[in-house]
Amino acid sequence: MQLQEALVKSSRWEAWVELIELFTGLFLLAFLQFHLLAVSTIILGPATFNRDAAFLDEYYLSYIGIPLVILAILVHGLVALRKAPWRFRELTVFLQHSRRLAHLDTWAWFVQILTGMAVLVLAAIHIWNTLSTWPIAAAKSALRIQASGFSNLLLLLLVAEIHAMVGLYRILVKWSWIHRQKFTKWLVYATVGFVALGLVSLLVFYFIDVKGLA
Ligand code: HEM
Repeated sequence: MQLQEALVKSSRWEAWVELIELFTGLFLLAFLQFHLLAVSTIILGPATFNRDAAFLDEYYLSYIGIPLVILAILVHGLVALRKAPWRFRELTVFLQHSRRLAHLDTWAWFVQILTGMAVLVLAAIHIWNTLSTWPIAAAKSALRIQASGFSNLLLLLLVAEIHAMVGLYRILVKWSWIHRQKFTKWLVYATVGFVALGLVSLLVFYFIDVKGLA
């Protein structure tokens, strides 16, 4: 009886944790794509980028959005990493099984753990850099990207997009919303599209004449 109660309690708890992981993941996925669209306004010119940044600042959207994003990253990271193979023995067993099974979904989970840990570190550096020179302005962003920020943001772009799209793939498979063969191709197109948009934005920042902006 006690065992039964413990099992019911733990499976209810596990269901809550799964839902928290799902909703924080979807929130971060939406944030990342919206963020890349917002950053890409630099392609239309520094004035458009500055106007949008000022809009987010004026209506306190940044002051609500940034703490929410940081909280979502922390909760999502903590909840998702509970299943990671932390011990060396667990890791070797997992890798042996993955190689033997050669199953795409098992490897997708491993990719999620690696890219997720990289996003935690790179996003923390990126948010810290952004907040330390607040408010956002095209000239400051360009200066940072031209000085040393280009490679960090490029790496963050790649790992965050891969993490987001593989995450969406795993959600759709896990909750059986659509058949995997039908959407895998569209997820690959979306990933390539958003990475290309981020890369073009970074290149515009990199080659912009900062002196002309000041
Ligand atoms: C998980 C990934 C990311 C997170 C959590 C994140 C988070 C943030 C946050 C919170 C801000 C403050 C401005 C705002 O209110 O929107 C910001 C600004 C900015 N982000 Fe990101 N970002 C991410 C990925 C990227 C990527 C991949 C790029 C480049 C393609 C990028 C480029 C920028 C730029 C240019 C700014 C303006 C301020 C600055 O230059 O630092 N971000 N980011």
